[in-house]
Amino acid sequence: MTDSPAIVSRLRAAGCVFAEDEAALLTAAAGSPGELEAMVAARVRGLPLEQVIGWAEFRGLRILVDPGVFVPRRRSEFLVQTAISLATGPVIMDLCCGTGALGLATVAELPSAELHAADLDPAAVACARRNVEPAGGRVYQGDLFAPLPASLRGGAAIVICNAPYVPTGEIAFMPAEARDHEARMALDGGSDGLAVLRRAAAQAPGWLAPGGTLLVETSQRQAGPMAGAMAAAGLSARVHHDDEMGATVITGTAPAARAPDSGRRA
Ligand SMILES: C[S@@+](CC[C@H](N)C(=O)[O-])C[C@H]1O[C@@H](n2cnc3c(N)ncnc32)[C@H](O)[C@@H]1O
Repeated sequence: MTDSPAIVSRLRAAGCVFAEDEAALLTAAAGSPGELEAMVAARVRGLPLEQVIGWAEFRGLRILVDPGVFVPRRRSEFLVQTAISLATGPVIMDLCCGTGALGLATVAELPSAELHAADLDPAAVACARRNVEPAGGRVYQGDLFAPLPASLRGGAAIVICNAPYVPTGEIAFMPAEARDHEARMALDGGSDGLAVLRRAAAQAPGWLAPGGTLLVETSQRQAGPMAGAMAAAGLSARVHHDDEMGATVITGTAPAARAPDSGRRA
């Protein structure tokens, strides 16, 4: 059954709160009645809507989303907004990039910025390439900073790192949509959720330009320990929070360059 009221009732019965909106999106995305039926069935089985229709909206951009790849969350728009406000140079890195949404949305508002994105998961890298390369950015595969060209060392104005930050023991309590259809490595941040982010903070000073900033997202509970990890790496840490979006962002800024004659005696 692929007529609109029937689709709405199937979606509603499966627990979709915005069943009418979803039915319209699925109908628009499907190229044939057979494809529409397959899409509705996938959504009823619990696949995230964005993975079914193949895209998500993020800060007004249409971001392609492949099966199994982390769906960019609306709350991460706060991280992007903060990154744009702090950028002091052209080189923008997006580590743990997933689809590449955060880096793309950042450079979209920074004329003459260049984007270097990376992820460990080959599926995420393939998806990010489809989003980032048409916009002129580069995507690399590997652990955190490891796959980036050495020529970028010491040059990043902004390093975005929205890494997995759910503590391992809390994954079982996540919505099934995430737990069952997003890669485990996109969610699992180790025993306290900060395992990947701590490593990113420790490595960031080697890649940031003077005055450059690392930005990460955490829960409110993790903000203190994460700010501590930034400070331990020699970065000046700040916690930013947006109640409306339910978003917490920690920034760590590298020391600014010293003026050439600073410290010299008159
Ligand atoms: C929470 S998802 C976020 C994706 C994207 N930044 C976003 O906000 O939409 C975390 C991403 O980190 C990647 N990842 C996990 N561990 C990694 C590592 N050690 N190095 C690079 N990427 C990693 C996962 O594959 C996943 O795509």
